[in-house]
Amino acid sequence: MTRNIVVLGGDGIGPEVTAAAVTVLRALDARIGLDLHFDAQPFGGAAIDACGDPLPPAVLDACRAADAILLGAVGGPKWANVPSAIRPEAGLLRLRSELGLYANLRPLQLHPALVDASPLKPERISGVDLLVVRELTGGIYFGQRTRSETRATDECAYSVGEVERVTRSAARLARARRGKLTSVDKANVLETSRLWREVVTRVVREEFPELQLEHLLVDAMAMYLVSRPRDFDVIVTENLFGDVLTDECAAVSGSLGMMPSASVGDSGPGVYEPIHGSAPDIAGLGVANPYGTVLSAAMMLRQSLAAPAAAAMLEAAVHGAISAGVRTRDLGGGASTADATAAILSHLASAPAIAA
Ligand code: IPM
Ligand code: MG
Repeated sequence: MTRNIVVLGGDGIGPEVTAAAVTVLRALDARIGLDLHFDAQPFGGAAIDACGDPLPPAVLDACRAADAILLGAVGGPKWANVPSAIRPEAGLLRLRSELGLYANLRPLQLHPALVDASPLKPERISGVDLLVVRELTGGIYFGQRTRSETRATDECAYSVGEVERVTRSAARLARARRGKLTSVDKANVLETSRLWREVVTRVVREEFPELQLEHLLVDAMAMYLVSRPRDFDVIVTENLFGDVLTDECAAVSGSLGMMPSASVGDSGPGVYEPIHGSAPDIAGLGVANPYGTVLSAAMMLRQSLAAPAAAAMLEAAVHGAISAGVRTRDLGGGASTADATAAILSHLASAPAIAA
């Protein structure tokens, strides 16, 4: 079975971390035979420079035809002043929307060797294992915008159907984990949040009665992520709250560079990307942390490419590299991107081969 992967390196450190992940994936392919094919395409600022569009039509077509998409990061100061409709970020939002990727999965787990990298006390953070399911194609990100000299507005809208489908995704994941679902909203103020809470309550009561469901306001959730992150299993929330809370998760874990993500819809290819940005300040220096992108590639193997054993091998290799103390700058070490990639490769080479 041929597996076609479109690689959207994007901007800043994006191309460096996707190149590292492709190197690791090729080695895994050579080891266990996954028949991976890679197709690199311009995206974000790089595509604006090449053809004036962060998501050119031909790139979108290639993405639609792929089995999965591996993405680096987009944006940077170079494109800060281009019109908002064609900013690099607009390309990312359009990609999510065009492919119908309404569920964004952002897991937070902390490798035991990295507990000291977290700003939280070890007894608060060690053993944390949560998954944020962020709604990704609705809400204020996609509402009408207006702007005059003196006023600006951004509309936030959610339909029942949009809330139902992401609730189902999150509830299925919670059922396969520890059975606890926390829905985050701002129902004491926002009408969209009141709709959100009603729909989540109904869907879970009718279709997932075995789950333990709780509702939290987003401001309280922001506190609890710092004070008691281990109490959470699956957290489901709307687009903007999910954006903010997952950066908080990354900070709590001690490194933005470690966190992978998957964006998936009902069918078609998913997009797999580290949650960090393009980090223009360190772009081109060869010091970016590739672990988050390699862990995203593992999510891709498991969720879009039907290769769960290969995914487990990649995850084990990343854990091996971290256990061996190979830390990039963001983790308080001195390893380069190439050092971290080599460490993953050496763990892969010595791992017992599992049938793909
Ligand atoms: C993310 C990023 C994006 C978002 C930006 C780059 C548009 O912050 O994936 O979390 O806000 O969704
Ligand atoms: Mg973000």
